Amino acid sequence: MARASILDWLAASPVRLAPMASYTNVPFRQVALECGSGFTTNEEIDAEALVRGNAWASRRDAECDARLGIVAMQLLGGTIETMVPAAIQLVEAGAPIIDINMGCPVAKIVKRGKGAALMRDLEGTSALLSAIRRAIPDTPLTIKIRGGWSDTDQNAVEVARMAQDVGVDAITVHPRTRAQQYAGRAPWDVIGDVVRAVDIPVTGNGDVTSLASARRMMAETGCVSVMIGRGALGRPWVFDGAYEALDRPAQITREAVVIERHLKLIDEYFNPAEALMQAKKHLMHYSNGWPGAKLFRGELFAQRTTAEVRAAFMERMQPLRELATA
Ligand SMILES: Cc1cc2nc3c(=O)[nH]c(=O)nc-3n(C[C@H](O)[C@H](O)[C@H](O)COP(=O)(O)O)c2cc1C
Repeated sequence: MARASILDWLAASPVRLAPMASYTNVPFRQVALECGSGFTTNEEIDAEALVRGNAWASRRDAECDARLGIVAMQLLGGTIETMVPAAIQLVEAGAPIIDINMGCPVAKIVKRGKGAALMRDLEGTSALLSAIRRAIPDTPLTIKIRGGWSDTDQNAVEVARMAQDVGVDAITVHPRTRAQQYAGRAPWDVIGDVVRAVDIPVTGNGDVTSLASARRMMAETGCVSVMIGRGALGRPWVFDGAYEALDRPAQITREAVVIERHLKLIDEYFNPAEALMQAKKHLMHYSNGWPGAKLFRGELFAQRTTAEVRAAFMERMQPLRELATA
C-alpha cells in the first residue's frame, strides 16, 4: 500500500467518523461510510491483547476486510515489543492504514504507559514510532493526539514535529488535554498551531456536529479533514450532504432507513448476545432527544432479541418521531 495514498483518501472525503471504543465496529463504520463518511478508524485495539490472541483477534480479518472500504486500524499500546508485532499482524491481515492512539485519557490505560501517556515521553514515543515505521515501511502510519497532558503541559506541536521527523504520514488532533478528558470546549486554535508546525496532513477533531461546523473547523484551522465522534452517535447521517438538503419529514424517513440498515448489519456481523448489546446501545443514541425516549429506553432494555429491539423501535419510537415533526 503506497504511503502517498493517504493524501488521496483524505482529499476524497474529508469529513469522517472518529474512533470510539465499543461503537465504531464494522456495522457502524459501514453505515457511516454509506452515509458519506470518508475513511473510518476502528475502535482502539490493545496491542498486547492482540498479540496474545484475544477474542478480538478472531475478528481481525473481517475488521480489515477491504470490501468495507479503507479503514485505519488503531492500536493502543506502549511498548515496541507489543506494538510492532501487532502492527505487522494487522498489515498482513490487509489493514490499509495503521493509526496509533496517543490520546486515550482513561486512568488505567495511561498508568500502563499507553494512550495519552505517550505524549509525555517524547524520546520513548519517538523510538516506538520509528520502530513501527521501519516494520511497516509501505503502509500509511498515522497518529491521533491530544493537546497535551494538562494545562501546564501542552505539547501537541512538539509531538507533531517529532512524529513528522520519524516518518508518520498524517496526524489527527483532538485539542483537549488529557486532564480535560471531554469537558469544556475543544480549543480549535491548537489544531491550527499543529497545522502551521508540520507539512504532513492534519485532521481536526472536537465538538463538530454538522458538515457546516466541519467546514468551519477547516476554514479556521487549515486542517485538511475533520473527524466527528459523539456528533455521529445516533446520527450517522451527519456525513450526508444530500440528507442535509431534505425537508424534515423526508429526513425522518431517511433516518428510519439508515437505522434499519444498521440493525441488519449488527445482526449479520455479531453473535446474538453481542448483537443485542450493540443494537440496544445504538438505539439509545438513535432515540436521544425524542419525545417518549425515556419510556422507550425502559422498554428497549426489556427486549431479549435484536428482532424484538427492532420491532420496539419501528412500532413505537418511529411513529413518535414522525408525529413530532408532522
Ligand atoms: C465513547 C467514546 C469512545 C472513544 N474511543 C476512542 C478510541 O478508541 N480511540 C480514540 O482515538 N479516541 C476515542 N475517543 C475519542 C474520539 O475519537 C474523539 O476524539 C472525541 O470524542 C472528541 O471528538 P467529538 O467531540 O467529535 O466527540 C472516544 C470517545 C468516546 C466518546
